[in-house]
Amino acid sequence: MNKSGKTAKIEFNDTSLELPLLSPAIGPDAADIRRLYADGGIFTYDPGFTSTASCKSTITYIDGLKGELLYRGYPIEQLAEKSHYLEVCYLLLYGELPTAGELEDFEARITRHTMVHEQMNYFFRGFRRDAHPMAIMVGVVGAMSAFYPDSTDVNDPRQREIASIRMIAKMPTIAAMAYKYSLGQPFVYPRNDLDYAANFLRMCFSIPAEDYEVNPILSRAMDRIFTLHADHEQNASTSTVRLSGSSGANPFACIAAGIACLWGPAHGGANQAALEMLKEIGSVDRIPEYIARAKDKSDPFRLMGFGHRVYKNFDPRAKVMKQSADEVLDLLGIENNETLKVAKELERIALEDEYFQEKKLFPNVDFYSGIILEAMGFPTSMFTPIFAVSRTVGWIAQWKEMIGDPEQKIGRPRQLYVGAPKRDYVNVEDR
Ligand code: ACO
Repeated sequence: MNKSGKTAKIEFNDTSLELPLLSPAIGPDAADIRRLYADGGIFTYDPGFTSTASCKSTITYIDGLKGELLYRGYPIEQLAEKSHYLEVCYLLLYGELPTAGELEDFEARITRHTMVHEQMNYFFRGFRRDAHPMAIMVGVVGAMSAFYPDSTDVNDPRQREIASIRMIAKMPTIAAMAYKYSLGQPFVYPRNDLDYAANFLRMCFSIPAEDYEVNPILSRAMDRIFTLHADHEQNASTSTVRLSGSSGANPFACIAAGIACLWGPAHGGANQAALEMLKEIGSVDRIPEYIARAKDKSDPFRLMGFGHRVYKNFDPRAKVMKQSADEVLDLLGIENNETLKVAKELERIALEDEYFQEKKLFPNVDFYSGIILEAMGFPTSMFTPIFAVSRTVGWIAQWKEMIGDPEQKIGRPRQLYVGAPKRDYVNVEDR
């Protein structure tokens, strides 16, 4: 980010300040307000950070108006078609596509770290059998700092690297264990001869009583879901990871914080909510009723899987997901899937509706992903854990970038205090 030589002028009371404008590689300029309080004595007010860049980053770029998503400059559509998840992980972590040798080495390092500490098996048993897998993941990932204390020193680059590899490698194992635990089935150990996505599917669906062969079509679809969710610049969970990490907290604790944030229905929980909504609608003839509810200000109902803080056009991931949903259902021989029919018709009607057009509300990545995951055999409670598995690399890449950025400080927003003015304490008998 360079100083553009341009400034933004701000005038208030008797003060006039020139704020330097910073130019990014692509995207709008940002007014540098770092000295605003020191020089002008005022704060800015921006709940939800709708106009505030919280950091510099070289990892992911989104053009919300065009509906464009780039990882390290590469369009997501090209990566989803030509690359695969572990190559994308390398790209996000190290900035460039790997050579064949680098990729082989990276894949071998990830594969060799997929098992979790054996004592973690006992840790799982402390959870209620019906616990939501996300509740288990928040706890277990946080507890990794207790199982792997030799990679918690954030000031040691080697420990940071080991922690990164450990988390990318073990997250599918932990998510699959959380699922198996909820079913009352034994945990399935990872296998080194399978790729990342196939290994995850096997750990979720294999049982000791019979052989399980991973369907390559499903593992490719799983890999694509991982790729599409790998990073999304400064979203709520990533900002949570960065904010947690800004205090020097260890990486396992920071990622656990990210998982907690992701759980919310406005963020990672939306894929579960979207599928549940499509099923509740149930048939195409009931769509108008739900569209009317979504537009009614007195009704809290929203079309889940619709709308996005940044995309004011089609979410490019939703386009790939829609195509993938068609392919997976077709290849699995699932014809006339009522949920997919409802989704497509709902999308068509909403896109023609003035309300959705005016507010620039389009389907997001979550609109179709649930249909694919359900066809694969996952219950809705596993949708957000799968999102967490995919996003782990993005969280780590952003966390590492933050640790290495000399301009980063502990995150500490200011506030607009609107509470009671200073007043004296009143004894209880006088109130
Ligand atoms: N259905 C109906 N109306 C909507 C929807 C929706 N899904 N989304 C936004 N709106 C309306 C709002 O009511 C608001 O109307 P108003 O201006 O008349 O008050 C306007 O559009 C702007 O919405 P905001 O909530 O202010 O926009 P914001 O950027 O804060 O929210 C969000 C974005 C949270 C994603 C929102 O669109 C939403 O709740 N969508 C449904 C949940 C969802 O799909 N989340 C997944 C996001 S993608 C991800 O995390 C991977």
